[in-house]
Amino acid sequence: MATLGVNIDHVATVRQARRTDEPDPVWAAVEAQLGGASCITAHLREDRRHITDRDLEPLKAVVRVKFNLEMSIAPSIVAIAARLRPTQCCLVPERRQELTTEGGLDVVRLRRRVAAVVKKLKACGIRVSAFIEPLAEQVETAAEIGCDCVELWTGGYAHARTPQRRVAALHALGDAIAVGRACGLEIHGGHGLTYRNIAPVAAMPGFVEFNIGHTIVARAMFVGIRRATREMVKLLKRYAPSESCQCSRVASSH
Ligand code: PXP
Repeated sequence: MATLGVNIDHVATVRQARRTDEPDPVWAAVEAQLGGASCITAHLREDRRHITDRDLEPLKAVVRVKFNLEMSIAPSIVAIAARLRPTQCCLVPERRQELTTEGGLDVVRLRRRVAAVVKKLKACGIRVSAFIEPLAEQVETAAEIGCDCVELWTGGYAHARTPQRRVAALHALGDAIAVGRACGLEIHGGHGLTYRNIAPVAAMPGFVEFNIGHTIVARAMFVGIRRATREMVKLLKRYAPSESCQCSRVASSH
């Protein structure tokens, strides 16, 4: 079964709405781990709209599972990551006006710049992931420039408006997983996944980890982070692929 990375950014979003000290994303990280998270993800954006520099060291201290720092390839952010040394860095595109990360990092177009960042982070002993769209060329390039893993953008599936598009998006994910595994990459997935839409992707063979944020933090308002995390872990377990499961069968049944 795939493991769960909980993205705690939106706990900090609520805090930053008042520029105060609550709710604390560090506390959220503790609760998510108690709920069964295998990874805690935080995105230090260049605009610092949620996670801030002051969160990083306390987060690193309390995270006993994998600590995944989501980040752009901006030199100032890379320097912070190199000092902090989280378990993993996930390279993402960043645009000021976006509501959240939209789409994947174009590692084909940005190949040289991303390759230099991957090299620098790996020299610090950090695992490197790239958040990319499920396209063969993107996956192959991520492998060629030395990424350990890729996080496939699941937004195409999550935002699909028709069953046909949803199935096509699942097939694209299945194809990208196959390419990634052939290249020796570990495959993660994330973006737009919710309690209601997780089943078909959780049932796809090949995903090792899902990074999920908004839906868990939203649910946590009513049941707390620990229980909200536990409920998502339960779904990943319930829908985990069996040995004989075929992606296409799962895709067509939803
Ligand atoms: N993975 C990446 C790389 C992301 O940028 C985000 C959004 O911050 C997520 C996963 C989580 O997405 P969501 O909040 O929609 O679950």
